[in-house]
Amino acid sequence: MLGIILAAGMGTRMKSKKPKVLHELVYHPMIEWVLNSYKNLIEDRHCDKIAVVIGENMSEVEELLEKWSLEKEIEVKIYYQKERLGTGHAVKMAMEAIQELSDDEGVYILCADVPLISSETLKKMRNMHKESKCSALVLTVEKDDPTGYGRIVKDQNGFIKKIVEQRDADAQQLRINEINSGIYLINAKQLREGLHQINTDNRQGEYYLTDIIEWINSQGLKAISYMTHDHYEVSGINNRYQLSQLEKKARERINRQHMLNGVSMIDPQQVYIDPDVIIESDCLIEPMTIIKGKTMIGKSCVIGPMTQIENCVIGENTLIERSHLCQVTVKNGVKIGPFARLRENTVLEDDTKIGDFVETKKTVVGKGSKVQHLSYLGDSQIGEGVNVGAGTITCNYNGYSKNKTIVEDGVFIGSNCALVAPITIGKDSIIGAGSVIVHDVPQDCLAIARGKQSNKENRANELRKKFENERKR
Ligand code: UD1
Ligand code: CA
Repeated sequence: MLGIILAAGMGTRMKSKKPKVLHELVYHPMIEWVLNSYKNLIEDRHCDKIAVVIGENMSEVEELLEKWSLEKEIEVKIYYQKERLGTGHAVKMAMEAIQELSDDEGVYILCADVPLISSETLKKMRNMHKESKCSALVLTVEKDDPTGYGRIVKDQNGFIKKIVEQRDADAQQLRINEINSGIYLINAKQLREGLHQINTDNRQGEYYLTDIIEWINSQGLKAISYMTHDHYEVSGINNRYQLSQLEKKARERINRQHMLNGVSMIDPQQVYIDPDVIIESDCLIEPMTIIKGKTMIGKSCVIGPMTQIENCVIGENTLIERSHLCQVTVKNGVKIGPFARLRENTVLEDDTKIGDFVETKKTVVGKGSKVQHLSYLGDSQIGEGVNVGAGTITCNYNGYSKNKTIVEDGVFIGSNCALVAPITIGKDSIIGAGSVIVHDVPQDCLAIARGKQSNKENRANELRKKFENERKR
C-alpha cells in the first residue's frame, strides 16, 4: 500500500506567506492531521510508505515532513510539482513510488488541505475495496448544494461511470448531489496506466485525476463509491474562516473522546486540548483551559479555570487553578495557583503547595513543602517540609551566571527574604523575615540578616507636631 498526499497548492486565499498546509488546527499543521490519520491506518504494517507532492519553495513543508518521518519512523518521500497542471499531473509526480508497487496493491490519494479525514473511514475504504474487487474506490458525500464539486455519475448498478467537474457538467449532471471528496483508493496497475491516458481536454485545460474513472470503465473494469455522512471529514480548507470551522470540529472530536474516557468538562467549547494530550479518568477540566504538547494528566485532577499547561506531566489528585505551566513535572496531591507561573524544569513533589504570584524555574520543591505567596525560585532545590515565606526571592543571577540555592529539609524561611546564590540553608534552620542571606547557614540555626531596630520613646507625637507646625508656616 502507498499513500499519496497532494500538497502542492500555496493556498492564495489564506492570504499568507506560509504554505496553506502549514496552517494549524488545534496546534498541529493541517498536513500533520492527514499524515497521522494515514499512519493510524497502517500502524501494524511497517513496510508502508507515504509520498507527498509539494510545490517548489516549500522548504518549511519539507522540514516538517522530515521531522514527522523521524519521529514516527515512517518513510516519507517528497516529490515536486513545479507547475500546477491539475490533480492528475500532481499524482503523476509520484510515479516513481507507484512503480514500486505490485499490480493489485492499493494507492490512497489524499489531500493535505482536507485534514479531518479519519483513519476509520480510510479503513472502511480498504475493506470495501478489498471485498468489491473494484479497481478504484472514490470517497463521496451527499451535498444539498454540490456547487463547485465533481459530480459522481453512476450506472444502473451503482458503479461509477465517471466523475464530471462542475464546469464540464451538463444540466442533468449538475443536479447530482453525490460529489467527489477528492480522496480515493486505486489499484496501482490502473493508476499507473490511467495516468498516462488522461489529457487536458476539458474546460480548465488541466490533467484531471478524476478522468481515470472513465478510463477504468473503458477497460471493462469497475469503480465504486464509499459515501461518508460526516461532511467535516471531507471538507477542504481554502480560507481562514473554513480553517476555524474545522478547528472547532477537531476540538469537539478530541474533547468528546476525553469525556467518553471519563473526563468531565463543564463547557467543552471553552477547552482547548492538543490531540497528543493524555488525561486519565475523573479529571475535571474547567473553562478557558488550554492543554498543549505532550502533556499527561493523572486521575482525579481539577485543571482550570483559565489555565495553560504545555508539555507537563501531572500526577493524581492535583488542583491547578488560573496558572501557567510549561515543562513541569507535578506529582500527586499538589495544589497550584491561582496565578502561579511554573517554568521549565520545575518539579513539584507530592503534597506541595504553590500559591499566588509564585514563579519557579529549574527548581525542585520537596514533599509537603509550601511556597504560598509572591515568590521567585530559580535554580533551586527545596527539601521536604520546607515553608517558603511570602515574598522570598532566590537571587540566582548576578548578571553573568546562574547560581544554585539549596534549602534543606525542614527549613522555615520568614517573609520577604532574599537568598543570594550560590547558597545553602542547612536542615531545620529558621531564617528571620526580611533577611538578605549571603552566607551559608549551617543546620539548626536561626539566621537573621537585617538592620537593627531601635524604638525611640515618645518621639512619634513629637514628630507629628513638628510636621504640623511646618504646614502652618
Ligand atoms: C478536485 C476534484 C473534484 C472534487 C474536489 C474536492 C479533480 C479534477 N477534481 O477539484 O472532483 O470534487 O477536488 O475538493 O481532481 N493539487 C495539486 N496540484 C495541482 C492541483 C491540485 O497538488 O496541480 C492538490 C491541491 O493542493 C489540493 C488537491 O490537489 O490539495 C485538490 O485540488 P483542488 O484544486 O482543490 O481540486 P478541485 O478543482 O477543487
Ligand atoms: Ca478544492
